[in-house]
Amino acid sequence: AMIDKGNHRHFMQKEIFEQPVVVAQTLGSYLRPLAGEVSLPIPEFDFTQIRRVTIVACGTSFYAGMVAKYWFEQFARVPVDLDVASEFRYREPVLEDGGLALFISQSGETADTLAALRHARAAGQKIAVVVNVPTSSMAREADLLLPTHAGPEIGVASTKAFTCQLAVLAALAANFARAKGRLSREEEQEIVRHLAEAPAAMNAAIAHDDEIEALAPLIAKARDVLYLGRGPDYPMALEGALKLKEISYIHAEGYAAGEMKHGPIALIDEHVPVIVIAPSGPLFDKTVSNMQEVQARGGKVVLISDAEGIAAAGEGTIATIEMPRVHPLIAPLVYAVPVQLLAYHVAVAKGTDVDQPRNLAKSVTVE
Ligand code: G6P
Repeated sequence: AMIDKGNHRHFMQKEIFEQPVVVAQTLGSYLRPLAGEVSLPIPEFDFTQIRRVTIVACGTSFYAGMVAKYWFEQFARVPVDLDVASEFRYREPVLEDGGLALFISQSGETADTLAALRHARAAGQKIAVVVNVPTSSMAREADLLLPTHAGPEIGVASTKAFTCQLAVLAALAANFARAKGRLSREEEQEIVRHLAEAPAAMNAAIAHDDEIEALAPLIAKARDVLYLGRGPDYPMALEGALKLKEISYIHAEGYAAGEMKHGPIALIDEHVPVIVIAPSGPLFDKTVSNMQEVQARGGKVVLISDAEGIAAAGEGTIATIEMPRVHPLIAPLVYAVPVQLLAYHVAVAKGTDVDQPRNLAKSVTVE
């Protein structure tokens, strides 16, 4: 069927706005909210034999994998290796028995990721695939196929496929933890409850679209933009920077907030906006202290946090973007939204081709 933009100016905007619906749709096939259980489409897959997970992907899908590493290690206590697909094969990874190789891809056709999958298969790994196109090559070659239900994604820069990947990966981490005997009934119910809250929280994030649009002209003037985050929100800093450079052509870098003092702090002056992703939670104070290091050097900070976080640390920023207060587990899904919207509005302000940025392809089928 023909897909159109509806009332939206660009596919990317439509796809950002669709996220609460498609994430709910995706969670619908991984959660049983009434029973308080996670459930995978292939219930018979045996996780108890898995001793190590290797996650491989490219681009935005790689950042979903980076978040998953935090979750798998935290919940299932299983060691996780993580690689971009173009590096994976050539570093001669050690792939031992009892390994699960997990590939994440919107298209299921990215050449580097597909080649990595075949390499892992030849090395005796079990193959799990999180993919948005159910008829794709990767989907066909999976032992454990974990579909995202984002629907067709047209904008070259991935948005809704990404948050749906996060939803699947969170459910997968919980399932894994349960199989390993590391999750009590109550803990599983808690996780299900938090995940089920994600779509509404994402809606609440989208409600701040106007403020983000109002901020865009200021960011559009910058030559460089820095994004900072910690823990599972560090990949959101990387994703924010990737989105911005992809579609607005502004140089942007994402950094682990605590690592900033080892390099990027040298760049800080009044011309470099610094986007700080800092939901309330165990890492909030640490991130804020890094943010204050930026402010002490004249850096212009945009703080993305919840009301509590903004009340505690909003002073001296050039802008704050308020997110709903959420459990740290779902923060990456929620905080993906404002960084996507910021990139989108900056690109629109600059007049670039948002859906078809120069030099990029939706699916890269060459190595
Ligand atoms: C291209 C797209 C990105 C995407 C990446 C990986 O570079 O422009 O948006 O994240 O490929 O694609 P995949 O289909 O494997 O997720």
